[in-house]
Amino acid sequence: MHTRTWILGALTAWAFLLPATSPAQFVANDARLLASGCFQCHGTNGKSGAFDALAGDGKQDMLNKLNDMRKKSAGSSIMVPHARGYTSQQLDMIADYFSKQK
Ligand code: HEC
Repeated sequence: MHTRTWILGALTAWAFLLPATSPAQFVANDARLLASGCFQCHGTNGKSGAFDALAGDGKQDMLNKLNDMRKKSAGSSIMVPHARGYTSQQLDMIADYFSKQK
C-alpha cells in the first residue's frame, strides 16, 4: 500500500477510536483497578493475602521497594515482573491506594 494512503488510513482509524474513553484516562481515574492486579497475592485491598499485607503500609516505603524491584533484571523474584509492568505514575497510584486502606 502507498505510504501516504497507509498514514491517512491509520489517522482515520485513530480518530474513530478517540470518542471512546482512552486507556490513559481510564487508568488515571481508577487506582483500585490498578491495585486489583495485586489482590491475588496480597489479598483484596491488600489484606489477608497469601503474601505480605500491603494495607496501611507507608506509601513512600512501598514505592522504594517497588522501585528497587524494578531495577532488577527480570526473573530474580515474583515481584520483579509486576513492579516492571507499571509506569512510575501507576505505581504511585497503587502505593497511594494501599497506604490508604485501613
Ligand atoms: C503472583 C503473586 C504476586 C502478585 C500478583 C504481586 N505480588 Fe507483591 N509480592 C509477592 C511476593 C511473593 C512477595 C515477597 C517478596 C518476593 O518474593 O519478591 C511480594 C512482595 C511485595 C512487596 C514487599 C513487601 C514487604 O513488606 O517487603 C511489595 C511492596 C509488593 N509485593 C507490592 C506488590 C504490588 C504493588 C503488586 C501489584 C502491582 C504486587 N505486589 C503483586 C507476590 C506478588
